[in-house]
Amino acid sequence: MTQPNVFVTRRIPDQGLAMIRQACAVTLWEDELPPPYNVLRAEAARADGLLTLLSDRVDAPLLESAPRLKVVSQMAVGFDNIDLAAATARGIPVGHTPGVLTETTADLAFALLMAAARRLPEAERFVHAGKWRTWGPMLLLGQDIHGATLGIVGMGRIGLAVARRAQGFGMRIIYYSRRESDEARALGAEYLPLDEVFAQADFISLHTPLTPETYHLIDDRAFALMKPTAILINTARGGVIDPDALYRALSTGKIAAAALDVTEPEPIPPDSPLLTLDNCLIVPHIGSASVATRTRIAVMAAENLLAGLRGERLPHCANPQVYGQE
Ligand code: GLV
Repeated sequence: MTQPNVFVTRRIPDQGLAMIRQACAVTLWEDELPPPYNVLRAEAARADGLLTLLSDRVDAPLLESAPRLKVVSQMAVGFDNIDLAAATARGIPVGHTPGVLTETTADLAFALLMAAARRLPEAERFVHAGKWRTWGPMLLLGQDIHGATLGIVGMGRIGLAVARRAQGFGMRIIYYSRRESDEARALGAEYLPLDEVFAQADFISLHTPLTPETYHLIDDRAFALMKPTAILINTARGGVIDPDALYRALSTGKIAAAALDVTEPEPIPPDSPLLTLDNCLIVPHIGSASVATRTRIAVMAAENLLAGLRGERLPHCANPQVYGQE
């Protein structure tokens, strides 16, 4: 029997790629940058399966011009780059990779929180610039993490994992989410209205998906509610924060600092004013970037892809409605 055609939009960890190669005729996009949209669309037009990343736009026109497509497997937990409704309407299941990256992403959220609180990037730049002349009683004073209040926005898997870390640091944990969570209560976290979380938190960590409701959730109004000493951490999606409002808040002292793993747009343009600020730490979307976790994500994406090609239910499906549920 002929093997299904699969387009894989970037080189992924070997273990996942090997599983796909065993069962499929693979076209692999080898470049470091994503395939241009017209290439992705042309490849999708002849593909039975697509393995995509969060930087690939899978929209309705692309899906409409892909008559053979049986499955889209996204190698990420988030899938805001995919028009899910259009995929569902065409009966195409979309796979994603929840769970496996929870702890690794929470590790990074906490690393960013600590780095921003104790001004580590500034301190490192200071030493490298040869400015360290003596022990300074006023040098690079930051903020305590222990005993501080952590506000979590979005208490899903990753929010909970961040809350567990915060417990170990003796933090008070408050949160806002679409609904109250028993697991959060068991961790001693207090459920509050969103504005109260903004107002009371010393650290605010974002863990919501990007949806029309969360787009620019953190805007001028939100910053106006925050403490001038607040530190904002984003490991969710860049679009949850209005970047112009963030610049205004950071440059006028409305909040103390931000630490971002994700930006809008992504990658951040080299001339973004945010890059001129000492109190804005930015890393290039590396939340799930450990060797072990990226390997597991690739395997999970391969499993979703292969199940879809066999006409089986995807182990992790972002649009279960495609199977006639919900
Ligand atoms: C990364 O951001 C993911 O959604 O997996």
